[in-house]
Amino acid sequence: MKVLINQKQIKRKVKELGEQITKDYPNGVVIVGILKGCTLFLSDLIREVKTDCVIDFIWVKSYNGIRSDTIKLICNTTYNVSSKDVLIVDDIIDTGKTIDFVKKQLLRRGARSVKVCVLLDKEEARKVPVKADYVGFRIPNVFVVGYGLDFNEQYRNLPVVAVL
Ligand code: IMP
Ligand code: MG
Repeated sequence: MKVLINQKQIKRKVKELGEQITKDYPNGVVIVGILKGCTLFLSDLIREVKTDCVIDFIWVKSYNGIRSDTIKLICNTTYNVSSKDVLIVDDIIDTGKTIDFVKKQLLRRGARSVKVCVLLDKEEARKVPVKADYVGFRIPNVFVVGYGLDFNEQYRNLPVVAVL
């Protein structure tokens, strides 16, 4: 396994993203994390967001091993997002299918605005035209694990992002 992004780089970037989000949402924000990949990134990020903040989660599955599949909704959000400014947080945007699916769900539930924050963006792999508003790192089309990202549910607890 080769380290692609180390702990220091992650920490610095998460702080930057948190500061930007703080500036952009002076009236507060509803953060919706996509489980399970968001967990490490979200928990570090919200500590850097200094504005009123509600946290909710949506659990969707899109992955079988390393092949992107259709999206399955396992567990929906519970907070009422009607007329709220929502920020989706996920580990990575790859084909874009997951973010596209979750964005549509939240807009259907009446969110006033829906923006997207991801730690990693694999732009080359996009199949659905959806873009992230806040991106930590743009990475090439390689399979990565760690800092929330898994391969068959393993490696999420690595404190770095590594190429498998
Ligand atoms: P998308 O729907 O293709 O954009 O995929 C998004 C989801 O696929 C992410 O939330 C991850 O769970 C998973 N995923 C995509 N690329 C990788 C990777 O390189 N390593 C681990 N999981 C990935
Ligand atoms: Mg995920």
